[in-house]
Amino acid sequence: MCGIVGYLGKKSATPILLSGLKRLEYRGYDSAGICVLENGALKTFKKEGPIKMLAAELDKQSLNSQIGIAHTRWATHGQPNETNAHPHYDCQHKIAVVHNGIIENFEGLKILLAKEGHKIVSETDSEVIAHLIEKFYHGDLEQAVLEAVKLLEGTFGLAVISESEKKLVAARRGSPLILGIGPDEIFIASDASAIIEYTNQVVYLEDNEIATISEQGYEVKSLDGHNANNQVTEIKWTIDEIEKSGFEHFMLKEIFEQPKTIANALRGRIKDGKIKLSVNFDAKKIDKIIITACGTSWHSALIGKYLLEKIAGMPTEVDYASEFRYRHPIVRDNNLLIVISQSGETADTLAALRETKNCQTLGIINSVGSTIAREVKSGIYLHAGPEIGVASTKAFTSQVASLILLALYIKEQISGELDQALSDELLIIPEKIQTILDQAENIKAISQNFVSAKNLLYLGRGINFPVALEGALKLKEVSYIHAEGYPAAEMKHGPIALIDKNMFVVFIVNHGPIFEKIVSNMQEVRARGGRIIAITDVKDAAVEKLSEFIITVPSVSEELSPLVNIIPLQLMSYYVASANGINVDKPRNLAKSVTVE
Ligand code: G6P
Repeated sequence: MCGIVGYLGKKSATPILLSGLKRLEYRGYDSAGICVLENGALKTFKKEGPIKMLAAELDKQSLNSQIGIAHTRWATHGQPNETNAHPHYDCQHKIAVVHNGIIENFEGLKILLAKEGHKIVSETDSEVIAHLIEKFYHGDLEQAVLEAVKLLEGTFGLAVISESEKKLVAARRGSPLILGIGPDEIFIASDASAIIEYTNQVVYLEDNEIATISEQGYEVKSLDGHNANNQVTEIKWTIDEIEKSGFEHFMLKEIFEQPKTIANALRGRIKDGKIKLSVNFDAKKIDKIIITACGTSWHSALIGKYLLEKIAGMPTEVDYASEFRYRHPIVRDNNLLIVISQSGETADTLAALRETKNCQTLGIINSVGSTIAREVKSGIYLHAGPEIGVASTKAFTSQVASLILLALYIKEQISGELDQALSDELLIIPEKIQTILDQAENIKAISQNFVSAKNLLYLGRGINFPVALEGALKLKEVSYIHAEGYPAAEMKHGPIALIDKNMFVVFIVNHGPIFEKIVSNMQEVRARGGRIIAITDVKDAAVEKLSEFIITVPSVSEELSPLVNIIPLQLMSYYVASANGINVDKPRNLAKSVTVE
């Protein structure tokens, strides 16, 4: 959600800032801006629309500066336009600020600043920060930022530049920021992908920290002025992982990566007849698990509930993080709180974690070094590599694979026995997924039949009900076609009213004890003229008769079935959206990482 880049070094800042913005565009893409300090003056360029609009403008300039800040915006306060785009200025145009997060008391601050004669020109919550820094600026930018942020309520990741000093100041509370450390240069970024091209040495800023960067180096302090001792860490992934590698979109690349990313999630974790996880809770002392997450991660949490209850016999509750944090949840010392997040930065998930101090906490996280990863008591990294497509795909399957591992681990800790059959089967799941990816052309052809649909229903039962939810979410996110996921049997209690000859209904119909019951639900849909797309592992005459389209998936144990059933649904969403000419990697209004409430 919004992206920040800053640079101070010996190279020309503009191309570096621009390439950083392009890498961050997946986090916000409605407008962008850049500000560099050249010959003692701040020069700012802003454009509405994608980064390429700003790039075209910068092509016309011949800038030669070695210091600057830049921002790509995902609008919260005020329309996406040039005035509201960052950087924002003080009255004298001597201080410029880029901001991620939300300043909750900005209305009050605006009134206060206006009374003091400041002229606020944008509708944003961010502009007040530039004016506050101006108010406190007496020749020391760091000090002015320290004074200004004392008055801010809400969340911020900030980068600040001033005309009067060759320095950058970065500050963070609740919105991620890192420093990238090169031999003769220092970067600021809200996400490592912006700077990985230049350095893999990073310093994570913690909440309530400020960093001052000058030609002499960098210094990190707490917002109350004490020196901090943040270590330099090395990022393990490479630039290749954030390139499209010949695929038209990141989403498609990431769907196709899943055999590899699931294998990465499992690597070294099923060994010598044991599940190896670096978690530090005693499973025998846990009496209940609570899982909290948002979006796609919440869907994997729902699958986690089935897995933990079925495999490990562990009572499990699942909550949206945004609901959990405000509903006074009862969390006892013997409970285990699991937070699931691809980015490790989702504001509601982080807040839910921070609400819960008394029990063990475990993160299932993709982004190494992210805030949630650093704040949980122990964790399982997905090792899926950076996920760039806004719609989550490979992170979802790696989350599910990790939850299966966790359920197997807890069962083993409690009973002393590994479920050998299931863990053996889990290890060969990447091959099974590959067989579905090999059918991509067929799935693409089927998808062409509903590119103009207005509504779809996704129905599944048991562990595949959350898969139906996730399939519907994927379609909505990237194609803008309305889709709803439902437990198949619940359809009778409302959604059935929607079914007519224009309604496509996706059924997940797997072998097992409720197979016949789902076939009955299919009959109910057909009887009303609904058009059925079946995702099935069964060759069955009734399914064939009732379905207009069938996608066959490999037959696996129920616990593993979400991992195969989701693949055709991801592909269908992708093909429908791209047939409709949508920029699949940057669907409208969405953001990859939602760092505001
Ligand atoms: C946003 C993204 C979703 C994601 C959700 C939770 O809404 O667009 O794809 O599932 O945030 O993100 P997290 O990083 O916490 O998994």
